[in-house]
Amino acid sequence: MQKAKLTFDRSFRIGEIDDRIYGSFIEHLGRAVYGGMYEPGHPTADDMGFRKDVLDLVKELKVPIVRYPGGNFVSGYNWEDGVGPVEQRPKRLDLAWQTVEPNEVGTNEFVEWCKRADSEAMMAINLGTKGIDAGRNLLEYCNHPGGSYWSDLRKSHGYAEPYNIKTWCLGNEMDGPWQIGHKTAEEYGRIAHETGNAMRMFQPDLELVACGSSNRKMPTFGEWEAVVLDHTYEIADYISLHTYYQNFESDVANFLAKSLDMDAFIESVVAICDYVKAKKRSNKTIHLSFDEWNVWFHSRQADSEREPWQVAPPLLEDVYTFEDALVVGCMLISLLKHADRVKMACMAQLVNVIAPIMTENNGAAWRQTIFYPYLHASVYGRGEVLRTLVDCGKYDSKDFTDVPYLEAVTVNDPEQQQVTIFAVNRHQEERMELSADLRDFAGYAVIEHIVLEHEDIKATNTAAHPDNVVPHNNGDATVTDSQLTAYLAPLSWNVIRLGR
Ligand code: AHR
Repeated sequence: MQKAKLTFDRSFRIGEIDDRIYGSFIEHLGRAVYGGMYEPGHPTADDMGFRKDVLDLVKELKVPIVRYPGGNFVSGYNWEDGVGPVEQRPKRLDLAWQTVEPNEVGTNEFVEWCKRADSEAMMAINLGTKGIDAGRNLLEYCNHPGGSYWSDLRKSHGYAEPYNIKTWCLGNEMDGPWQIGHKTAEEYGRIAHETGNAMRMFQPDLELVACGSSNRKMPTFGEWEAVVLDHTYEIADYISLHTYYQNFESDVANFLAKSLDMDAFIESVVAICDYVKAKKRSNKTIHLSFDEWNVWFHSRQADSEREPWQVAPPLLEDVYTFEDALVVGCMLISLLKHADRVKMACMAQLVNVIAPIMTENNGAAWRQTIFYPYLHASVYGRGEVLRTLVDCGKYDSKDFTDVPYLEAVTVNDPEQQQVTIFAVNRHQEERMELSADLRDFAGYAVIEHIVLEHEDIKATNTAAHPDNVVPHNNGDATVTDSQLTAYLAPLSWNVIRLGR
């Protein structure tokens, strides 16, 4: 049996959790929009054609913010195509995903969908084929009350009230050669600065996200962030990070350790932000928007074989395994451990496309395995993160050394007087005795110990078997004389909830 000891105290605060770290992402890609959030003929469709079964699952996840409309898609998008009478909207070729975009859903429908999902919109603008005008015109269309060309156009489209959208992404993955309108760091830094500047002239309190690297393996990583921030430091509030993990080799030990890469990625970007801050002798701190993260690899082969130029074909439809849910759990813990600097994050994506929610056209909607760690973190991971020292055994894998068998973090919610420990036992065979001295939380008892476990690491949830991988709350955590003890199953995601 493995042993792990946790140490945490009320005053060892890493930082306040910004709820927006539980954000998500909807791109015009595959069946995310058409067949996912929107399907007018579906039995659960509401008056605007939004699937209520999907909306219910999104609300269950308590998603605070949703990034839209891309992704790679945004770099060729004319937002003007997606507003006004639907029958007059053009069908366009989307070069990013080689599909046909019918434009039945656009900005106004998305903002209305966000309201119905109890969420907030995070808009991305096209800095690939477009530029400053894409930012300032869309901003005026969305946020100006009226009396100007773009705001009156919105009103004429039937949306009288301005949206006051606060958070805007200045392009998407502009460092990537696959991006339409790909740029060097200098080119992007300049256009992002000028666009952000124009947008702030209209509304100074916007929150603007500059594009960081598409992932940590990009050859330009590091230098890209430094150059971009050099240009955008005054106008940007956040720099973005994206990462997706794979397990093509079926190397469980190595796959489960991938969150160490996420830790290192975050810490490197924080260091670069602070380097630019020092260089500029600035008092302003740039925060991180981890606005694309997930596991993504199952669908890659199928996607490479499909016919181009279809409307809403099934694309990036990863069917997630139990093992993927453990990696997603570790990734959520990584985001929480850096809550002082990661203030926004978006699981990519929300429905059908590398998503926690899957649907059939004209059929069911169900929860994938990765839905559960996301749900637990979003619902119970609110408050402040406590530095959590983890004393446990370690292992080496193909790409990592000293991987702790236990990945864990503690969240304190002083208002509710509740403490939640999120923990993954990475050991493939052995149970783990977890102990913690609750010295600073005297009187706290176990509310529940939720566990996600399965005897088959490749188990999935499907339309036919939607409840194959589901959590239970029969974990055995106990508190005696302020000593917490729990036995964690090998390969398990655990949520230990304590309260007074
Ligand atoms: O989320 C899928 C794609 O991954 C996005 O369109 C792009 O930004 C990233 O490369």
